[in-house]
Amino acid sequence: MALLNILCYPDPRLHKVAKPVTEFDEKLRTLVADMLETMYESQGVGLAATQIDVHQRLVVMDTSEEHNQPVVLINPEITWASEERVKGEEGCLSVPGIYDGVERAVKVKVKAADEHGKVRELEAEGLMAVCVQHELDHLMGKVFVEYLSPLKRNRIKTKMLKAQKDSA
Ligand code: NI
Repeated sequence: MALLNILCYPDPRLHKVAKPVTEFDEKLRTLVADMLETMYESQGVGLAATQIDVHQRLVVMDTSEEHNQPVVLINPEITWASEERVKGEEGCLSVPGIYDGVERAVKVKVKAADEHGKVRELEAEGLMAVCVQHELDHLMGKVFVEYLSPLKRNRIKTKMLKAQKDSA
């Protein structure tokens, strides 16, 4: 297994749109294992392939308290979202140290394959529902800060670029 490098906002590669996964092979399963390891190591609850510069529709997440319930979503599609929405605080491994409110559907249903190509539908609520919506946005090239006002987003961009420059 290997730790993968996570792209940091405002890296333009975070805005690429991911393509469907077509091969459910050992290479894919290694990638899934490496993404999970990277996510746990970074203490994140979700990681989209886009964030590690792999532009395929693949997400890993684990919103359990014990961090022992990994969920793999390949070619995920939201099939239903509740009308009820709620604003909650979000963060992202690609925007370290930044947390802000984003409005999301309270419950969603998502249809996705696992790493063996088996398709199932999951129902998510609470943190997991937020995570599903946040990670699926990544696959469309969207980072959560894009829901914030242009003013806030620009401040975040400036802060991130300065932090990247300082650590270079
Ligand atoms: Ni994220």
